[in-house]
Amino acid sequence: MTMTFPLMERDFKVVILALSDCKSVFEGLGSIVEVGGGTGTVAQIISEAFPHLKYTMLDLPYVVANLTGRENLNYVGGDMFQAIPPSDAVLMKHLDDS
Ligand SMILES: C[S@@+](CC[C@H](N)C(=O)[O-])C[C@H]1O[C@@H](n2cnc3c(N)ncnc32)[C@H](O)[C@@H]1O
Repeated sequence: MTMTFPLMERDFKVVILALSDCKSVFEGLGSIVEVGGGTGTVAQIISEAFPHLKYTMLDLPYVVANLTGRENLNYVGGDMFQAIPPSDAVLMKHLDDS
């Protein structure tokens, strides 16, 4: 429980920034891949806010195994050091576990 709140708080701050100050960045894209998205919180909020955007979230296979996507949100299991799905932009946030 003590680990969950700080992660959710960071996600919340990034999403607020994305949906306010940086909205035009997402409006100009057709596709985006988020690398190491973890629980998919950011992926869900941004993909819902920008339904035109083809959103792919890449994380290790066991992390995405039980995540369910929707029309414009696709979860992909893989290793970013092996391959990253092609897209107009790549989003990375806090990939260091330390
Ligand atoms: C500290 S978590 C951060 C999750 C999310 N980006 C956030 O900011 O809350 C790091 C994430 O990177 C993922 N990750 C680590 N190594 C990876 C790799 N080689 N390929 C893809 N994802 C990786 C982990 O599975 C984990 O979900």
